[in-house]
Amino acid sequence: MKVSIIGSGGREHAICHFLSKSKKIKKIYCIPGNAGTSSISENVNLDINNHLEIKNFIKKNKVDLVIVGPEKPLVEGLVDYLENNEIKVFGPNKKSSKLEGSKIFTKKLCKKYNIPTANFKIFNNLNKSKKFLLSTKYPLVIKADNLASGKGVYICKNKYEAIKSVKEIFGGKFGKAKNVLVEEFLNGEEMSYFIISDGKTIKSFETAQDHKRVKEGDNGKNTGGMGAYSPSRLINKNLEKKIINQIIKPTIKGLGKLGSIYKGFLYAGLMIVNNNPYLVEYNVRMGDPECQTILPKLKNDLLDVIMACCDKKLHKLKISWNNKKSLCVVLCSKGYPDTFKKNIKINNLEKLKINKNDYLFHAGTSIDKKEVYATGGRVLNFVTVSNNFLSARKTIHKNINKLNWTSGFHRKDIGFKVIN
Ligand code: AMP
Ligand code: GLY
Repeated sequence: MKVSIIGSGGREHAICHFLSKSKKIKKIYCIPGNAGTSSISENVNLDINNHLEIKNFIKKNKVDLVIVGPEKPLVEGLVDYLENNEIKVFGPNKKSSKLEGSKIFTKKLCKKYNIPTANFKIFNNLNKSKKFLLSTKYPLVIKADNLASGKGVYICKNKYEAIKSVKEIFGGKFGKAKNVLVEEFLNGEEMSYFIISDGKTIKSFETAQDHKRVKEGDNGKNTGGMGAYSPSRLINKNLEKKIINQIIKPTIKGLGKLGSIYKGFLYAGLMIVNNNPYLVEYNVRMGDPECQTILPKLKNDLLDVIMACCDKKLHKLKISWNNKKSLCVVLCSKGYPDTFKKNIKINNLEKLKINKNDYLFHAGTSIDKKEVYATGGRVLNFVTVSNNFLSARKTIHKNINKLNWTSGFHRKDIGFKVIN
């Protein structure tokens, strides 16, 4: 088989790595990929926003399966476009991707199907929202409706912060805003729950927890994710049952009523309050860096899982996991998530000791004449699978120290809730 992966992050390198182990695959193209994927597949430098160009490449090279990693092409309907051209694609269609593309769409679905989520109000202009915000209780959460790459969410302690944020949202900071979402603040612990769905059957795809903030202790600005670990410490049979029955199943059913089937990974960002799940957000893809911690625990051939999904045969497949602990630390360029230097050489990669249970997934890197350069904010993902989180983190830190990349930084406390 020939497979093509769309995207260039750590998530896509991890997917590429595990697919490259499949004996059924003879060729992988990464569009556009990174320095890491270039050593196990062929990178193809196409613009992932140019659906026509992607379709032409897939057709010309007789690719049998396309896997879409990031949210933007999903929300913009790349899956629909390729499928309309008789190409097999793994990932949800445009209608289903509204779960991530519009927070208000998801909140309305929650309300209709009684899915537990924070109470909310929607305002369609600045004055109406201000009037409410001047007379309500705090803290509360204000969100832009559309895709905002992890930004666009404000936790507001008082009316001054709240009014500043609605002004920014209606002022167009995250693109043209018709509405703003105001939510009750939920006090609990977060957990990410993943499933895979073929439209008829859903199967659990493990739990994880990421660290979104740039500074230790989960402080500072939001990022794409500074690290993650799997499993979450919160998961138990009873909680999992509630997540499936109260949140996932009604969502898939609700999409069905709208005429859409859900095919692909679905990531439920949850707040767990007293062993009860509340939906905070949906992402219509694997998380990054959560994916990098989950895939190393999968015992199946990843291609079998994805194909079962595309062929609507997920009910026939048993997905097995090892019960190890998996941790990922992201090495970033100094300055991230604000401005950082680009095209900085990374030396010493060959010195790293990557054992059987260690993985080095590239994110914002490129390769030129065999030299690796940092091109993005999140640069390298160090992952270790172990019997406990502490030893995983120790191994990772040893390797990061050995790399000694002076233009980078990382959080030293990833997994602090699961490591004493
Ligand atoms: P989101 O992009 O909607 O996942 O929000 C980003 C982050 O904001 C989440 O990971 C939570 O940490 C926090 N957050 C969002 N909504 C709420 C809420 N209703 N209550 C408490 N925290 C929230
Ligand atoms: N790590 C958060 C995300 O992938 O959205």
